[in-house]
Amino acid sequence: MKLTTRIESQLLSKIATNDGHGENSSYFDGWKAYDSDPYHPTQNPHGVIQMGLAENQLCFDLVQEWVRNNPKASICTEEGVADFRDIAIFQDYHGLPQFRNAVARFMEKVRGNRVRFDPDRIVMSGGATGAQETLAFCLADPGDALLVPTPYYPGNDRDLTWRTGVKLVPVVCESSNNFKITRRALETAYKKAQESNIKVKGLLLNNPSNPLGTVLDRETLQESLNFITTKNIHLICDEIYSATVFTDPGFISIAELAQDNPDWNPDLIHIVYSLSKDLGFPGFRVGIVYSYNDDVVNCARKMSSFGLVSTQTQHLIAAMLSDVAFVERFLAEGSNRLGKRRGEMCSALGQVGIGSLKSNAGLYCWVDLRRLLKEASFEAEMELWRLIVHEVKLNVSPGASFHCDEPGWFRVCFANMDDETMGVAMSRIHRFVVQKNRSGAARKQCSRRELEISLSNRRRLDDVMAMSPHSPIPSPLVRARN
Ligand SMILES: Cc1ncc(COP(=O)(O)O)c(C=O)c1O
Repeated sequence: MKLTTRIESQLLSKIATNDGHGENSSYFDGWKAYDSDPYHPTQNPHGVIQMGLAENQLCFDLVQEWVRNNPKASICTEEGVADFRDIAIFQDYHGLPQFRNAVARFMEKVRGNRVRFDPDRIVMSGGATGAQETLAFCLADPGDALLVPTPYYPGNDRDLTWRTGVKLVPVVCESSNNFKITRRALETAYKKAQESNIKVKGLLLNNPSNPLGTVLDRETLQESLNFITTKNIHLICDEIYSATVFTDPGFISIAELAQDNPDWNPDLIHIVYSLSKDLGFPGFRVGIVYSYNDDVVNCARKMSSFGLVSTQTQHLIAAMLSDVAFVERFLAEGSNRLGKRRGEMCSALGQVGIGSLKSNAGLYCWVDLRRLLKEASFEAEMELWRLIVHEVKLNVSPGASFHCDEPGWFRVCFANMDDETMGVAMSRIHRFVVQKNRSGAARKQCSRRELEISLSNRRRLDDVMAMSPHSPIPSPLVRARN
């Protein structure tokens, strides 16, 4: 095995033989545990429930209804087949104009129509994954770095760095202020990079955040804009969860601030978007780079040849997103259902004393399991995580895989399953925590008893010792344990 690896590493490139893909992290390990033993209500009721996948499956009934009512949008139907030829032969990397228009209008709608997006600045990519990489290629050279506030989406390590050679430098954010991004944290990370002779080319924000489920407030966005302007570096805003906000405070896009601020430098601002989360179509691989920098738009468009969205998908999406009534209903119903599901999950967790970070967006909760750790360490976090995956049979994601600086936080996804599965997951957590509390209490009682016995023995020993200082009596603490 070792020999094969050595020979392979001589034969193949560095990219082919390094593990920059990150497939060996605990984030992906949990997926493997799920894949080998997936839960099914009747065929495998004791299997692993997938709570490590940020997928939005709560509104598929609405989408299916739309697809049924709009057969012309699918070119493989009787009603749509007349368009088959034109769609199948279209290969311009600008994309179908109706697709770019529809996506631009959708992005505006999600942002409360407070901003305008120019369809000519919309560049396609293979999901946000492709969009991130495209931007990394356009903005930085191998060895250069982007600052990323922690905790952050583990895929960033793969998407922005693996093939580009770009580095990520963490901006450490802490639970003491709800993981808020501060100017101080930004400056510290920047300075640290400089001290290591790493050239910082940009800051990557994810708003709303995966894994926190929180939105960035205006003040933080403004501070970030001031920071990148002062340093003359880029700002990439990954806004792929923008339509998942279910309560106030509402989502504020960097586009709004940029538009309202006369001092901003448009050449430095770039937005990453995709339909993987907001519409729940990760399989369609619809990703978008929206840049205010003309050169970036041009270069990214040329690069998009490597990750175009199929015209069949563009055609369908253009029709779906141009249906204003459908979009209105989908967005309203989507955020209602997400809010309801999150509320149910958090109250179920609350019943057994588990808290989570206050949040109002995303497809997950950032759950605080610090009190279940044996000690405050990442080893203890891994131990607890293994127990949850292999014994409780829930694939949740440990904070370490999100580069969280503090052990004990876990991301738990809630929108990729039906109500029944969620019920099973919650009853498993319930049982687990009750059991853990009981064994904790028993341990405490036991050690209290041990202490009492040892104290009474100590007293007796002291009496004996007082009589005979050379007594060979074994330690009372050892005896108490037998
Ligand atoms: C913050 C963030 N960015 C990017 C992605 C990648 O999305 P896509 O499926 O569109 O490539 C994800 C997926 O989970 C994500 O959470």
